[in-house]
Amino acid sequence: MPADARSPKKLRSNRASLTHKVGYALRHPGRVAPYVRRAARDAYLRLKHPDHVGYYRAVMASDTRRNPEAAVGSRTHDRWLALGQMQFDYLIEHGLRPEHRMLDIGCGNLRGGWRFIDHLEPGHYYGIDISPDILIAAKKTLADRGLQDKLPHLTITGDLTFDFLPDAHFDVVHAHSVFSHSPLDVIDQCLAHVGRILAPDGFFDFTFDRTEGEEHVVLNEDFYYRTETLLALARGHGLRAEFMEDWERRPHGQSKIRVRRGDSA
Ligand SMILES: C[S@@+](CC[C@H](N)C(=O)[O-])C[C@H]1O[C@@H](n2cnc3c(N)ncnc32)[C@H](O)[C@@H]1O
Repeated sequence: MPADARSPKKLRSNRASLTHKVGYALRHPGRVAPYVRRAARDAYLRLKHPDHVGYYRAVMASDTRRNPEAAVGSRTHDRWLALGQMQFDYLIEHGLRPEHRMLDIGCGNLRGGWRFIDHLEPGHYYGIDISPDILIAAKKTLADRGLQDKLPHLTITGDLTFDFLPDAHFDVVHAHSVFSHSPLDVIDQCLAHVGRILAPDGFFDFTFDRTEGEEHVVLNEDFYYRTETLLALARGHGLRAEFMEDWERRPHGQSKIRVRRGDSA
């Protein structure tokens, strides 16, 4: 998503509405055919996979087959590098140190992950994802970067209960461009369980596609939420939650929320 997606006008638009779609098609006639192909794939995959995780796993399989970097949202290799750098720089500025333990939810093909793996002590990076195809691409990124000695954990998951992970373990939990593709029940499950695995002073940062108008979904793939919805969901699970104003200054289309354990200092 381009950075101007956070302009006041765009923040209010409902991309799922017919008016928006017609206006968009008139402004960008060349994008109509790709959109129709995507809508057809969406309809087929929704029929085949009624559950969201199964559906999105199939979307990732199809996208990764074509190009793993595009599958995680980067149209060019330079953008892939820049987006990873942006994630990395932000967490370094917010105190990520080599001895910290980090969980990267929806780690994709390690766009940001390879930089975190390089920075952290061996075995301190955990990446989980629902897509086996993108995790295979992640292993290639790891090998290409020569980071085998860092022994990161890369694990497939079918849910966000974190039941295989220990209590109070992670200093930083991170989900970049994951809730932008997640229905509310998936986010709710994550927020219900993340407090257990966070270290007492740890935090969980996630990005989301923000709307200041009506909440909406485009093709079951892109979910737009109001900030208050997600803050309230987190607080309902006893977590402290804040909107990260300093992330808004970055050239990125999504916004960021940070949650901490309710009993943190
Ligand atoms: C847009 S990509 C971003 C990948 C990575 N975070 C990055 O910034 O490069 C979204 C990733 O989240 C994964 N994903 C989507 N829903 C998920 C879920 N419920 N649990 C874990 N991973 C999920 C997808 O398979 C995909 O790899």
